[in-house]
Amino acid sequence: MLNIIGDLIIFSIPNFDTYKELEDCLKREGKAMKILITYFSQTGNTERVAKSFKEALAEHEVDINPIAQQKPDELSDYDFLILGSGIYAGKIHKSVENLIKKAERLPPKVALFNTHSSISAYQHGFKRVKQRLEVLGAELIGEWDCRGENIGVPEQIIEQRLANLPPDERKKAEEDIEELKGRPNAEDLENAKTFAKSLL
Ligand SMILES: Cc1cc2nc3c(=O)[nH]c(=O)nc-3n(C[C@H](O)[C@H](O)[C@H](O)COP(=O)(O)O)c2cc1C
Repeated sequence: MLNIIGDLIIFSIPNFDTYKELEDCLKREGKAMKILITYFSQTGNTERVAKSFKEALAEHEVDINPIAQQKPDELSDYDFLILGSGIYAGKIHKSVENLIKKAERLPPKVALFNTHSSISAYQHGFKRVKQRLEVLGAELIGEWDCRGENIGVPEQIIEQRLANLPPDERKKAEEDIEELKGRPNAEDLENAKTFAKSLL
């Protein structure tokens, strides 16, 4: 049905060169937003969350790009930016900060997300990004995080760290390692989808 209407409009409105252009425009008029999800993910945890966001926002026009492929001057082509990173030594990855530093304009609305393994050393990771959002007049409309397994740390290193702990702390640390396994898990990814839907 849309095809027939589209073809008719293409013939009568010369501004559209292709059906795709027309369809994109109609979608936007029908309230679909142009959304960009861009993220840094060293070991895949943050990427899995980013993909869940995309799934949850399927009725919108969503592009999803690893940060290394994202050009700063293209950010303002979007209505809404969702920006994410893993946490490394208490901070988001430098490439995420740099992208926002280099951008001269941002979408009017932005949400931030991160994955982290600790329960404390992650809250201030986006500090500089938040300052830049204010300077550029972009509204921060939501933040989301979940724990992510620290993948790739050799068993030997973990064992060394555990060996240095007193018995009660060691027990807690072992329980925590167990709790972190496989995260973000299915429940985390469902929570991520709920969050994404709540934004729009
Ligand atoms: C080099 C390195 C440093 C890390 N530093 C922290 C940290 O300071 N705080 C924290 O909560 N997690 C830290 N983590 C754990 C990661 O933030 C966590 O595993 C996250 O889910 C990784 O995301 P990614 O798989 O998208 O790279 C660190 C991980 C690595 C590899």
